[in-house]
Amino acid sequence: MKKKLTIIAVSLFSLLCLRVSLAQSDEHQPLLSVKEIMNGLITPTTTTIWGAYQLETDAQWQEVRNAALSVIAAGNLLQFGGAGEGEAETAAEADWKTYNQQMIEAARLVVLATDNKDEEALSAAGNDVLYPPCESCHQQYQAR
Ligand code: HEC
Repeated sequence: MKKKLTIIAVSLFSLLCLRVSLAQSDEHQPLLSVKEIMNGLITPTTTTIWGAYQLETDAQWQEVRNAALSVIAAGNLLQFGGAGEGEAETAAEADWKTYNQQMIEAARLVVLATDNKDEEALSAAGNDVLYPPCESCHQQYQAR
């Protein structure tokens, strides 16, 4: 009898855990559309990265580093698409993932360049690596 009660208690507990985890997964809905991510996160942060020139103080380097981290965060959001209609489906496509991953990798190079305070590497990462995936993704997915 005691054993049975224990089993029931354990089952109830597992059910409860399942419910909690289901409720949490509901909260993993995208909250921003792709357009909002572009305008709210990508544009201001890439403006900082591409505008970086003759950096001197630690604070200036830190600002660029933070901008690159935000691009990575935006890329993380873009892995799930956006809140707009059909955006989750688009984000499941291989090309979308490729361009997004390229953007994230480029932002990592920017972070590395700021760690080394290497302005040449920063400009190479920004212009040669960070910019192309923007173009490729827009060409394929931005409605005209
Ligand atoms: C994985 C795909 C993808 C990548 C990578 C990407 N974008 Fe976008 N971007 C889009 C899509 C899709 C739209 C169109 C959104 C819409 O109009 O709903 C867009 C739109 C934009 C817009 C226009 C927003 C508006 O108000 O119409 C800007 C600016 C922009 N992106 C900047 C960038 C920059 C800069 C980069 C590179 C650092 C970048 N994007 C990388 C998918 C991407």
